[in-house]
Amino acid sequence: MNELTVNDLHLDYGTGAHANQILKGVSMHLQKGEVVALLGPSGSGKTTLLRAVAGLESAKQGTISIGERNVYDGSKNFEMPAEHRNLGLVFQSYALWPHKTVFDNVAYGLKLRKMGAADIKDKVADVLKNLGLGHLAERYPHQLSGGQQQRVAIARALVYNPPVILLDEPLSNLDAKLREEARAFLRELIVRLGLSALMVTHDQAEAMAISDRILLLNNGKIEQQGTPQSMYETPETLFTAEFMGSNNRLPAKVVQRDGARVRLDVNGTALTGTARGAGGGEPSTIIRVEEVKISPTPVENAIELPLLTCMYLGDRFECLFKSPAGGGEFGLRAYSKYKLEAGNYWLQLPVDKLWVF
Ligand SMILES: Nc1ncnc2c1ncn2[C@@H]1O[C@H](COP(=O)(O)OP(=O)(O)O)[C@@H](O)[C@H]1O
Ligand SMILES: [Mg+2]
Repeated sequence: MNELTVNDLHLDYGTGAHANQILKGVSMHLQKGEVVALLGPSGSGKTTLLRAVAGLESAKQGTISIGERNVYDGSKNFEMPAEHRNLGLVFQSYALWPHKTVFDNVAYGLKLRKMGAADIKDKVADVLKNLGLGHLAERYPHQLSGGQQQRVAIARALVYNPPVILLDEPLSNLDAKLREEARAFLRELIVRLGLSALMVTHDQAEAMAISDRILLLNNGKIEQQGTPQSMYETPETLFTAEFMGSNNRLPAKVVQRDGARVRLDVNGTALTGTARGAGGGEPSTIIRVEEVKISPTPVENAIELPLLTCMYLGDRFECLFKSPAGGGEFGLRAYSKYKLEAGNYWLQLPVDKLWVF
């Protein structure tokens, strides 16, 4: 069953001549037990979509259902107030009350709902234990680390067993190492508690690590959705391909198309690539950095370029090859296990990985 269904949602900020279309017909669903990442560049409408689902922004058109309940229907001018939607919300700024203890921060929502003191105590203790915060119940937010504060914010969202939790960049205030730990923790927690979660992020690695499914938003529309693997390995558009990975873009001219095979010319070198996506428009040719193979001797479907520099990344080197200035100057990046000597190399671009959109 779908825990959350959004259908053809339109939302503007401002009205009349000043109306700014932010969501332009978004449809999505979230199934029970599923973690969906809402991914997209800054300004693409991720927060707006989350806030519309929560009832914090008014849409213009479309429908939103939570489980069986309709919470928004544009055609009937129906809008359920946010406090009746019973969703768990976690924002980027944890928005904890500084003068309340961890226990009181988490208990607050239950007190508002007039739950009895004994029940509140049990529920809060239970959720704090689940989040590994049991021993911190009497502390104040300023006595906690960033990671602990972030868990309190999650505890507060989970305490009344919402069917769906909505998280807006919940890990972005943590530093890199903590963020990776928190990612694993959050994924494990969501799965263990059987929650359904919609999580906003602008970080494609985070989206892939944490979710069952990714929705990629581009300028108020869903560009593509699918499992992390399908989004990464079989992008349907150039936007998806470029957003999901680290790419080289080649100044290639299309010479001839033969089904999915595309014969290309790159500054006088003949190459073969594979057509992807619906086509149309100016063709763009890209290849993922990790798919470029470096050879000191001539190989098939390769381009010869001098090495410019190698950067040490710890587990490997990222090497930049660049054609001499003048006459269609361009560069290619590739990974190498070892530091390379100066000189010319043949950069092999496997036919099925050289994508022409
Ligand atoms: N309250 C608001 N009033 C007017 N415009 C807004 C408001 N909030 C966001 N916007 C605009 O809406 C667009 C989408 O914003 P947002 O949903 O916050 O993007 P994201 O979360 O993907 O970065 C942006 O162009 C932003 O400037
Ligand atoms: Mg945002």
